[in-house]
Formats: sequence, structure tokens, C-alpha cells
Amino acid sequence: MEAVGADVRGLRPGDTVFGWTATGSPAEYVSAPATHFVPKPKRLTMEQAATLVTSGLTALQALRDVAKVQPGQTVLITGASGGVGSYAVQIAKGMGAEVTGVCSTRNVAIVRALGADHVIDYSEVDFSRSGRRYDVILDNVEAQPLAAARRALAPTGTLIPNSGKGGRWFGPLGRILAAHVQSRFTHQALRPFLSVEKHDDLRVLAALVEAGTLTPVVDRTYPLERAADALAYVGEGYARGKVVVTVDATVPGGRA
Ligand SMILES: NC(=O)c1ccc[n+]([C@@H]2O[C@H](COP(=O)([O-])OP(=O)(O)OC[C@H]3O[C@@H](n4cnc5c(N)ncnc54)[C@H](OP(=O)(O)O)[C@@H]3O)[C@@H](O)[C@H]2O)c1
Repeated sequence: MEAVGADVRGLRPGDTVFGWTATGSPAEYVSAPATHFVPKPKRLTMEQAATLVTSGLTALQALRDVAKVQPGQTVLITGASGGVGSYAVQIAKGMGAEVTGVCSTRNVAIVRALGADHVIDYSEVDFSRSGRRYDVILDNVEAQPLAAARRALAPTGTLIPNSGKGGRWFGPLGRILAAHVQSRFTHQALRPFLSVEKHDDLRVLAALVEAGTLTPVVDRTYPLERAADALAYVGEGYARGKVVVTVDATVPGGRA
């Protein structure tokens, strides 16, 4: 924290914080309301803390607010080694769920290390045809159509289609509409959602980190001048956890 406004309470220059800004561009300096920041958990590096916001909030809100996961429920998470998925596996475990992660062969060990009780390698098993049914499915990939994913959902379970993927004509809106329409004819809940940046939820994430329930997975870091390469790598769709853009630590206030 380089400087704070005259009316800001609870934050001082020199504090290490994480949070979000009104604009999305990586930069050495950013300016944002004080309510966008909370203190960085001590056990995280700046790079790890920088990954918490979007993916962490998405995983938290999907499981806690949309699916309302209860202890003992079965939760299946696709893209379990990715940005949202790596958080979701850990948060669902922290909520007392029995967690199944879906990923490729090379990520099976990582997903198990994140705490998943079961791991499905999608190159060998199609979860929608395995015969098992889950109380909650957080589908970060949507490799299958909604109807196929629903086969693996318990009769009163909740499916969160979360890839933002869409059809040829209507884009993501088409799948969202399909989910709402199909929800009317089944006891299964199909719940696409948009995550929201909330100060209180940043505090929840920080508390989960401090409690040892949550540890960010950082795949790679790129210096600011290679931010375009970072975005291109993420765009390939096979990142392990999160990718971080760093800024020169020799610049005053410049870290991650
Ligand atoms: N609802 C919201 O507000 C919100 C907010 C943020 C993000 N999102 C959405 O959440 C989704 C996930 O984001 P993310 O950041 O976690 O993406 P990501 O980091 O790119 O992760 C995607 C994961 O998908 C896996 N994958 C790729 N192809 C696959 C396939 N054919 N079958 C199964 N898994 C496959 C990859 O794992 P392997 O390498 O093991 O294949 C990768 O780890 C995105 O579509 C994003 O738009 C939604």
C-alpha cells in the first residue's frame, strides 16, 4: 500500500494487501476504494495472494451461496486443476463434502494433493456415463452438454454450469437460457451464476488461508512486460491453478 486517502481507516502506507481494482489491466500502481482490499494472509507470498480474488470468490460463492453445500454431500468439480477448480476442491473439502475432481492424466496427482477424495481422469472416464450421481456438480469446463452432465446429478441435486461457453447463435446466453428452461421441468437445480466482488468474502478467503484450509496454486509467473504471453497461456485452457503477472520489486511498491 503506497498511499491512503485522508478518510481511510484501518489501512496504512506500507501495509501488504490483496484485492481488486475497478479496471482489469495489470499495472505497477493501481488506485481503488479501500473497501476493495484486505490484509494479505501472512503465510502467502504476494504472488499467491494476487490469485485469490476472482477464482477464489467464484469457487466460494458457487459452493456456499449457489449450491449451499452441506457436510457429507457429494460434490463433483470439473477443471479441478484449473484456477476456479483448484480453489473449489479445497473449499468443498473445507465444507465437509466428499469431493470428486475431474482433470487430465497429468494433473491427477495435483488434484489428489489438493484434497479430493476421488479423482476422475477425463481421458479414461466420462463422469456423465460412470453411473455415479452427485449432489452438486460445479462444471468449470462444460465439455458435455447440459443433458449429459445432468445424468450424473442426483434427482434433487444442483448443477452449476460455469464455463461461460455457449452455442453458435446465442453464445453463453444460450446455455444460460437452456439451464433456466430445463430447470422448470426437473427437480434438479441448474444454476448458472456470476460471481460478485465482495469485501466480506475476501475476508472469508483470507480466513480460510490462515486456517490452512486454502492454499493457492501458482502455475507460472510472467513479468509485466510479458502480460500478453500470460494471457495467451491462460487462454490455452490448461493452466495448473493460476498464472500471475509480477512487477519489478525494485519499483517502490512494486511486487505482484
Ligand atoms: N461464474 C463466474 O462469475 C465466473 C468467474 C470466473 C471464471 N468463470 C469461468 O470458470 C471457468 C473456469 O475458469 P478457470 O480460470 O478455472 O479456467 P482454467 O484455469 O483455464 O482451467 C480450466 C481447466 O479445464 C481443464 N480442461 C481443459 N479441457 C478440458 C476437457 N476437455 N475436459 C475436462 N477438463 C478440461 C484443464 O485441466 P487439464 O489440463 O487437466 O485438462 C484446466 O485446468 C471459465 O470458463 C471461466 O469463464 C466463471
